[in-house]
Amino acid sequence: MTRTAPWWRSAVIYQVYIRSFADANGDGVGDIAGIRSRLPYLKSLGVDAVWINPWYKSPMADHGYDVADYRAIDPLFGTVAEAEQLIEEAHRHGIRVIPDIVPNHTSDQHAWFRAALAAGPGSPERERYVFRSGRGPGGAEPPNDWVSCFGGPAWTRLPDGDWYLHLFAPQQPDLNWQHPEVRAEFESILRFWFSRGVDGFRIDVAHGLVKHPELPDLPPRQEPAVLGPLISRESAGDRPRSHVDHPHWDRDEVHDIYRAWRRVADEFPGDRSFVAEAWADSPERLAAYVREDGLHTAFNFDFLMSGWDAKELRTVIDDSLAMLGAVGAPATWVLSNHDVMRHPSRYGRRATKRWTANEPYRPDGPADLELGTRRARAAALLMLALPGGAYVYQGEELGLPEVEDLPEDLLQDPVWERSGHTDRGRDGCRVPLPWSGGTAPYGFSPDGASAAPWLPQPEAWGELSVAAQTADPASMLELYREALRLRREHPALGDGTLAWLDTGESVLAFRRDPGFVCVVNLSPEPCPLPAHTSVLLSSGPLADGLLPPDHAVWLAV
Ligand code: NOJ
Repeated sequence: MTRTAPWWRSAVIYQVYIRSFADANGDGVGDIAGIRSRLPYLKSLGVDAVWINPWYKSPMADHGYDVADYRAIDPLFGTVAEAEQLIEEAHRHGIRVIPDIVPNHTSDQHAWFRAALAAGPGSPERERYVFRSGRGPGGAEPPNDWVSCFGGPAWTRLPDGDWYLHLFAPQQPDLNWQHPEVRAEFESILRFWFSRGVDGFRIDVAHGLVKHPELPDLPPRQEPAVLGPLISRESAGDRPRSHVDHPHWDRDEVHDIYRAWRRVADEFPGDRSFVAEAWADSPERLAAYVREDGLHTAFNFDFLMSGWDAKELRTVIDDSLAMLGAVGAPATWVLSNHDVMRHPSRYGRRATKRWTANEPYRPDGPADLELGTRRARAAALLMLALPGGAYVYQGEELGLPEVEDLPEDLLQDPVWERSGHTDRGRDGCRVPLPWSGGTAPYGFSPDGASAAPWLPQPEAWGELSVAAQTADPASMLELYREALRLRREHPALGDGTLAWLDTGESVLAFRRDPGFVCVVNLSPEPCPLPAHTSVLLSSGPLADGLLPPDHAVWLAV
C-alpha cells in the first residue's frame, strides 16, 4: 500500500528556513543559490521533499511572512529564474519542493494595501482588507478587543481615522477573504507556482482566513488567543477541548476556500499537495481540514507540544490516528520548527509538563542538553516510525539546541519589540546552520563573505557541523541518515497503521507490519525488549540487552 499511495501520505519533509540554511553570495543571509548548492546533502540525508519558508518579495518585518509580491522572489534570496532552477534540480535529485503561501495577510507594502491607503476610507480598495471605524468618542478605540499574536491590539489606526486589522504585526494587514478578488488572486498565485513545478504548499495560518462578518468581541471567559499559533503571546493554560465559535480562528467557512484550492491543485498533474498550518482545539477540528475535497495534510502540533511523557504521547498518537484515519487522511508528525524552541532544549528541561504552544518564551530552569539530546535521539526514532509523514526542521538532524543567550541588541523577531522586551521571541531556533570548520560562519557563508551571519552562531557549533558529524556513527546526523534509509526501505514504515504492545505505562512500544517494532523507554529504569530477531537501529547503546531510559530502538520481529 505504502509504495503505490501518493507520496505525501508518507513523505519526510525537510523544512528549509531559507535565511539560515546556506548563504551562497556571502551577505550573511541564506538564499536560493545556497539551497541549490546543498541539494546533494539533502539527497544524502534521504528526505523526500523540502518545505521552504517564504521566499517572496518582502520588507521582512516578519522575515518573509509579510509578502509584498507573491509572484516575485525577494532579491535577498534570488530570482524567480533561480527558484525555477532550484525546483528543476531538486526534482532531478528526487526531492519535491513545497513553498510557503501566506494568505491570511499581506505586507503593508503590497500594492493592494498601498492602494487601499491612498484611496481612503469607504473606498473599494479598502474592502480587500479589514478596515473599520473605531469605537467610542471620535472612534478613538479599536473596533473590537482582538489581540495580535505578537502582542498588543490587533488593530492599528491610520491618520485618516480608519482602523485596520492585523492578527500579527501592524506590517501584516489581514486580507478580507469574503472578497471575491482576494479568492481569485490567490487561486491565480497558486497556479503561477504550480505551473513552475512546485509540488505543493505549506499554508500559513490556514485556520485564520475567515473572520466573523460582524467582527464581534472575543467570547467571554475565552483566553484571547487560545487557538492562535505557537507564537501567540497569550498564555492559554490548559486548552479547552471543545470547539467554541471563535470570531477569527478555525471558523467552519474557511473550508470553502480550501475546497476551491484543492480543485486548483487537481488541475495539475503529479499529486500536488497542501499542508495546513492549522491550529484547532481538537483532533476532530483538525481533521476537518483534510477531507477528500479539502487539503491533503495538516501539521499535528499536539505531538510537538507533548511533554516527554509516555501517557501523553500515546494519547496524542492515538487521538491523531483515530481522527485523521476517520477522514482517510495520513497523520504528520513534527518535533520542531522555526516558531518554537528546538526540542533538545525543550526535552532537556526535567519538567515533563505539557509545553503549551501559547506560552511565552519562559523556560523553567537551565536545559540539561545531554538529557535533551538523548531524548531528541529517541524522539526521532519514535517520530519516524509512526504511521504517516514527518517533518524535520533544518538543524534538528544535527541536534542543534536552542540558542538561548543571543545578545538582546541582536534580536530581530518582531515579538521582541511587540512584547515590550519581555519575550525574546523565536530567533534562538533560527540561528544559521553550521556546515563545516571550527569557527563562524562554519561554512554557512563562503570564505571571504562580506557580512557575518545575520544571527551569531555559538562558539561550540563546530562540533555540531555537518562535516564534523558525517561518518561518525554516534552522531545525530548519522542516526537520522540511517533512520531515513531504513524508513525508505522497510515495507512496514511510512503510511499504514500501528498496534500497541503491552509494555506498561512508561514504555511506548508498537508493532508495524510486516515485522517491525519500535520501543521507546520513557521510564527511569532500563526496560527489557520484546522478542525480536535483530536490532535494526537504536538511539544509543543497549545495556546488557536492556533499553536504557530515554532511549528508543527499532527491532525486526
Ligand atoms: C506562522 C509562521 O510560522 C510564523 O513564523 C509567522 O510569524 C506567522 N504565521 C505569521 O505569518
